[in-house]
Parts: sequence; C-alpha cells; structure tokens
Amino acid sequence: MSDSMLIDPFGRKIDYLRISVTDRCDFRCTYCMDEDATFLPRRDILSLEEIVQVATSFVALGTRKIRITGGEPLVRKDILWALEQIAALPGLEELTITTNGSQLEKMGQQLFDAGVSRINVSLDTLKRERFEELTRRDKLDQVLRGIETVCALPFKQLKLNAVILGGHNDDEIEDLVEYALTHKMDISFIEEMPLGQISHHDRAKVYISSDELRDRLGKRWQLSASERSTGGPSRYFDIAGESQQIGFISPHSHNFCSTCNRVRLTAEGRLLMCLGNEHSKDLKAVMRAHPENVELLKQTIIDSLVLKPEKHHFNLEEEPQILRFMSATGG
Ligand code: 5AD
Ligand code: SF4
Repeated sequence: MSDSMLIDPFGRKIDYLRISVTDRCDFRCTYCMDEDATFLPRRDILSLEEIVQVATSFVALGTRKIRITGGEPLVRKDILWALEQIAALPGLEELTITTNGSQLEKMGQQLFDAGVSRINVSLDTLKRERFEELTRRDKLDQVLRGIETVCALPFKQLKLNAVILGGHNDDEIEDLVEYALTHKMDISFIEEMPLGQISHHDRAKVYISSDELRDRLGKRWQLSASERSTGGPSRYFDIAGESQQIGFISPHSHNFCSTCNRVRLTAEGRLLMCLGNEHSKDLKAVMRAHPENVELLKQTIIDSLVLKPEKHHFNLEEEPQILRFMSATGG
C-alpha cells in the first residue's frame, strides 16, 4: 500500500516520479529526434541541486519510486553525485534509470555503487547497420558491451525496451526476446508515440500493434498474462519455462491511464502531469524565486496535482498534438 500524500482528482495515488535530467543525447533515434535537434540552453535546465531538491520533496510526500531518464541521463556531468543523493533519501524504495546503454560499460559499477537498483536499456535492433539507421550512430557494439557489464553486476532487475516500427525492425522481435532471455533480462515492446515532429518516417505507416507482436511471439513461446505490476505502463506476460517476462507498452491499443501513478519532471523543471497532455507546473520558477523555501515547493507540488488529466489522447492520423519530444520529457 502506498502512503503517498499525492492524490489526483481521479483518486489515483501518485507515488512514482520520473525525472529527465537532460534533453541532450549522444544518439539521434529516428522516432525520437531529428539529426539537427536543438537542445535547451543550459540556464534553462535544472541544476543537479534543484533536481535533488525536487526529488527530496517528492519522497517526503510519499513517493517511493524514482526513475531517472533523459535524453540520455548518463551524459549529464556529475550525474552520479545526484544519483547518490537521491538513492540515500529515507523512504525511497527504488531508484531506477532508463538509458540508451552507451555509457554502461564505463559507468555500470558506479551506478550500482550509487544505489541504482534497476536499469532499463533501450535496444531496438541487434543488427549493426540497422542500429546505425535507427539511432544514426554506429554504436551497437558499445551498447552490447555495456549490457554485458551490467549483467555481470548484482542489479535487482535489468530490462530491455524496444520501440518496434513496422517494416523497420519488427522482424527482430523473436531475436530480441532470445537475446533478453540469454541475458536474464525482461523485455518490453513499445508502440511509438506521437511526441514531437520527426521527418524520418510516417508514424501512422509504421504502426504495429502490441497485440500483433504478442500473437507472433505466442507462436514461439507460451505466454500467459501476468499479475505483475511494476507501477509502470507495461502489461506483462509470463513465458512458460522462463523466469523473465515480456511486457507491452501500448499507448495506442491499450490505454493505461486509469492506473497511472506517475508524474514527470522535465529537464527544464516543469512538473508534467501526463505524457500525452501539456498540463504542467513550472517548479523551476518557484525554486528560483524562493530558493530556500522547501515548504512552498512541497505545497506547489501538492496543489499542482489538480492539473492531472484523466487520460491521454494519441492519434496517429493527426499532426502531433504534443510538440515536445520524449527526450525533453523523460520517457
Ligand atoms: N515513442 C515511443 N517510445 C519512444 N522513446 C523515445 N521516443 C519515443 C516515441 N516517440 C523510447 C526510447 C526509450 C524510452 C525512454 O522511450 O526508445 O526506450
Ligand atoms: Fe536518445 Fe533515447 Fe531519444 Fe534515442 S530515444 S535519441 S537514445 S533520448
């Protein structure tokens, strides 16, 4: 049971905070940003101290799980310092990160030592040329070495995240599951979301539903719906004979808003109530106007929850309604 003091107008307890620590990234995934993506000026980005201050307030209000994302969170200078501070907050049960894997070979051990308990690594393909096409960087080997590094460490859980685009990488779902199983990792397949304008492909044309993927995987593995909930949007399936699970994040085909227990802190310090809506509160403005006033920050967070909308409305046939990219928002 959650004892969160944060409850939204629809009775949902908010006990999960996702923090984007930077909108910058060393990759340029085609579904996420264009090659010439522009990034926020540094002064507009929260300092690590401000990030820790927000995390501290949330944990004091009952938040039990924090996920650090980006952009690529591990390219942010001194990120380990912030991770250590957050991991040490009394009451926090889980500190997790989502990463593209590029820094894991170098930083895996330090992440473990800092107190990170679970890592999600984004991996959409196991083919080198395709990896370069999808991320616009020739770094598959570096990512795979990073995964080997964290697999050798005693993290509580490791998971792969794969965004599947029909005609681009859907032929690899079985291979990705094999890879995950060999590495004792869970894997989630994600439907692409219409966040930001991209030029690489037409999102409606490459859409492939989670149900279709699950039916295909069901031909090879015996899958059964699992009771497990990690407090994230994944629906999990057990695989007969394996201890790992396959998850599906299906913003289009299975709306997961009714159980939403999370809010997001964007890299520029907006508290975002929903990935698919613009409702937000500018916490950076509050902190910069009243730097020492912790109570005001907490009260602002409590008050901002009335802004949380009931659900997102993604529509692939329309122009993206949400102009921010996942990288600024924190997956
Ligand atoms: N739709 C779905 N997933 C996305 N990601 C980034 N942009 C999008 C998008 N538009 C994924 C990344 C990563 C996770 C944080 O979000 O691949 O796995
Ligand atoms: Fe970077 Fe992640 Fe966006 Fe890819 S999806 S460009 S790894 S932030």
